[in-house]
Amino acid sequence: MLPYMPSTGGMCSAFPPYRALEKLRCHSFPHWPVRASSATAMQIRTLAVFGITGQTGHALVNAAAVRGWAVRGFARPESATPRGPAAPIIVRGYFTDSTRVVEAVAGADAVCCVIGPRAPYTEVFCAAATAAIVQAMRQVGSRRLVCQTGAMVGPGNRTPAFEWFCRSFARRRPAVAQDRLEQEGLIRECGLDWTLVKPPRLTNGPARHAVKAGCALRVGLLSSISRADIAEFMLDAIEGAQYVCARVFVRG
Ligand SMILES: NC(=O)c1ccc[n+]([C@@H]2O[C@H](COP(=O)([O-])OP(=O)(O)OC[C@H]3O[C@@H](n4cnc5c(N)ncnc54)[C@H](OP(=O)(O)O)[C@@H]3O)[C@@H](O)[C@H]2O)c1
Repeated sequence: MLPYMPSTGGMCSAFPPYRALEKLRCHSFPHWPVRASSATAMQIRTLAVFGITGQTGHALVNAAAVRGWAVRGFARPESATPRGPAAPIIVRGYFTDSTRVVEAVAGADAVCCVIGPRAPYTEVFCAAATAAIVQAMRQVGSRRLVCQTGAMVGPGNRTPAFEWFCRSFARRRPAVAQDRLEQEGLIRECGLDWTLVKPPRLTNGPARHAVKAGCALRVGLLSSISRADIAEFMLDAIEGAQYVCARVFVRG
């Protein structure tokens, strides 16, 4: 019989025996559900989101709000305020301002990074921004980092047509492709509890809750996944302590 184990970050998990049991559950039995006690249910967890003004950021805020997370976002001073019923706290700043980045992650139980260049995909900033996030997380002692890059970044189990498309993009935008590679390298070496989430084409369809995920998942030119499903996947990975230190491909 599975003993009751409070969820990670819950009040009881402050006790070393519970932490040890939780660690055992996460690493050996990641599919076992975690039951919330009234104590843990009352505890509001905080999620810090970088890229909150983007479309995945928007999906993440909505999904997190439904699950009872408090969301804090980081956005450039000139970015539009995120729309929607959830009202996240927004820290305004640039990634070069470490004080503001630290403010965004302070006290966060988990951090999601869903930044990326907007069309025409010429801006090179992801590796530097991610380095700032990692540095800030180390400073405040926050450990769980889930970062979305893409199925086109680095090695993968891609169909020949998709592989050709990735190489062609890298030839047209070498600095951007290199930036995303460096971003992934930085995360893999960061020493935190990281997950790299690697979707193919993103859509704005509804969540279908039928995500296929795997470190060697086959992805093709026609593969896609909705941002709503990605958001649920990221939150599942955080709440279930799944895919820690893994580079995971996802598709609908
Ligand atoms: N679109 C796809 O089909 C696709 C497929 C696979 C992977 N991805 C990746 O998935 C992630 C999310 O994609 P998305 O389409 O949902 O995002 P998106 O709507 O394009 O949003 C991008 C986010 O990154 C921020 N950003 C852009 N340039 C920035 C800069 N120079 N400095 C700071 N922040 C900056 C944006 O902030 P502002 O509001 O300030 O611009 C926004 O919050 C990205 O990493 C993307 O590369 C996308």
